[in-house]
Amino acid sequence: MRDLYLHDKIFEPYISKAEIDVAVNRLASEMVRAIPTEDTVFICVLKGAFMFFSDLMKQLGSGGRQEFIFAKSYAGTQSTGKVWLSELNADALSGQRVVLVEDIVDTGLTVNYLAGRIQEAGPLSLHICTFLFKAEVYRGLRTIDFKGLTIPNYFVVGYGLDYEEKGRSLPEIFKLKG
Ligand code: IMP
Ligand code: MG
Repeated sequence: MRDLYLHDKIFEPYISKAEIDVAVNRLASEMVRAIPTEDTVFICVLKGAFMFFSDLMKQLGSGGRQEFIFAKSYAGTQSTGKVWLSELNADALSGQRVVLVEDIVDTGLTVNYLAGRIQEAGPLSLHICTFLFKAEVYRGLRTIDFKGLTIPNYFVVGYGLDYEEKGRSLPEIFKLKG
């Protein structure tokens, strides 16, 4: 695969479609063993998690219920330190088993804020799932229950993840070069 130019930056191939598939399948099996997935509300954190969420849900079959929220904390390749969140359907979460599905957990700020908001809706339980996990920079206190792949502190795009709204539609993951 070749280098990729998005806006002013160059990215190089990092995680292939085949590696992504293996990680998603493994994660889905882990989830099925750990929780009653057919009786769970899965929340997709948009925009970034849309591809992972779709692949994960297909692996889980007919079970569960799906909800969607928008969250935003990044500008360019940096976290802004603030999280913006769209409306949460609290009625759909109250008394339910809930799994929050993220594309990537970096500092943990976004997931921490989202988890706090979901707790306010009074779920029966709350698990956190992320496709990518930047272990080195994670500063959150909350346990990340289901992780796809742990990566170093690289800035990555593709498979839902963007750089200034570019690169989301790529079926594989690229990392910032240099
Ligand atoms: P956190 O709040 O620092 O954990 O960052 C989480 C959010 O920042 C994710 O949901 C992404 O939208 C965005 N983000 C973090 N790292 C990356 C990256 O490497 N590429 C693209 N977006 C990222
Ligand atoms: Mg983003």
